[in-house]
Amino acid sequence: MSYSSNDQQTRILYANELGKRVTSGERELVILESLALDVDRGESVAIVGSSGAGKSTLLGLLAGLDAPSSGELEMFGQSLSTLDEDGRAALRAGRVGFVFQNFQLLPTLTAIENVMLPLELSPRQDVAGKSRQCLERVGLGARLDHLPKQLSGGEQQRVAVARAFVTEPDLVFADEPTGNLDEATGKRIIDLLFDLNRESGTTLILVTHDMSLARRCDRCLKLEGGALHEVVQRQGVEA
Ligand SMILES: Nc1ncnc2c1ncn2[C@@H]1O[C@H](COP(=O)(O)OP(=O)(O)OP(=O)(O)O)[C@@H](O)[C@H]1O
Ligand SMILES: [Mg+2]
Repeated sequence: MSYSSNDQQTRILYANELGKRVTSGERELVILESLALDVDRGESVAIVGSSGAGKSTLLGLLAGLDAPSSGELEMFGQSLSTLDEDGRAALRAGRVGFVFQNFQLLPTLTAIENVMLPLELSPRQDVAGKSRQCLERVGLGARLDHLPKQLSGGEQQRVAVARAFVTEPDLVFADEPTGNLDEATGKRIIDLLFDLNRESGTTLILVTHDMSLARRCDRCLKLEGGALHEVVQRQGVEA
């Protein structure tokens, strides 16, 4: 990977003039418009905003899972528009973890097999042992061999979180990672994400409706009108 400046060595994500439009029936829907974002290595960033504001759409674009309609987008100093789907997947492999809002676990694989999947793309260690350890960290040591349909919503969410950090990625995207969890379990998952951030310098991009989670992040950005706005976080003031 070639970096052209010091700036880009600390910069992990960059978006400029980013737009996403979709056609729905006869109409064109503008979801994101002229959006800008700059995230440095090791930062934790919360993205908040009302339902339908485009948060999940944005996360999919930033992770290179979906292509923008316009604008520039870079991850790890590499322009995503120059890469096809396979190229974007290769750039992400082992370095990016993603927790989807609807989890997207593979239904025919058990909990531990779902977590093993990203490691098997680059087998280099005790895949099963490492995956078991991650499931234990999210409190699912006793659910290794359950299929997703045999798990509660919150348990599926925790498998998705374990799958996202099993490769010890540089960058984790999580779409409402505590949306299905009770307060105590949610806190455990949040603590885990911030432990990764502190111990391994993992950059966190978290979509959340939970202001206590947003407040723990270095920055809080609100998605509104298709663009991101910095939220000044003060005690007792909500976005
Ligand atoms: N492929 C698509 N075709 C048409 N409309 C779409 C498409 N994808 C998303 N949308 C619309 O774009 C808007 C943003 O969707 P998105 O899922 O990004 O919102 P969100 O901010 O994540 O909402 P929530 O908080 O409810 O998860 C919604 O109004 C949705 O209906
Ligand atoms: Mg969403």
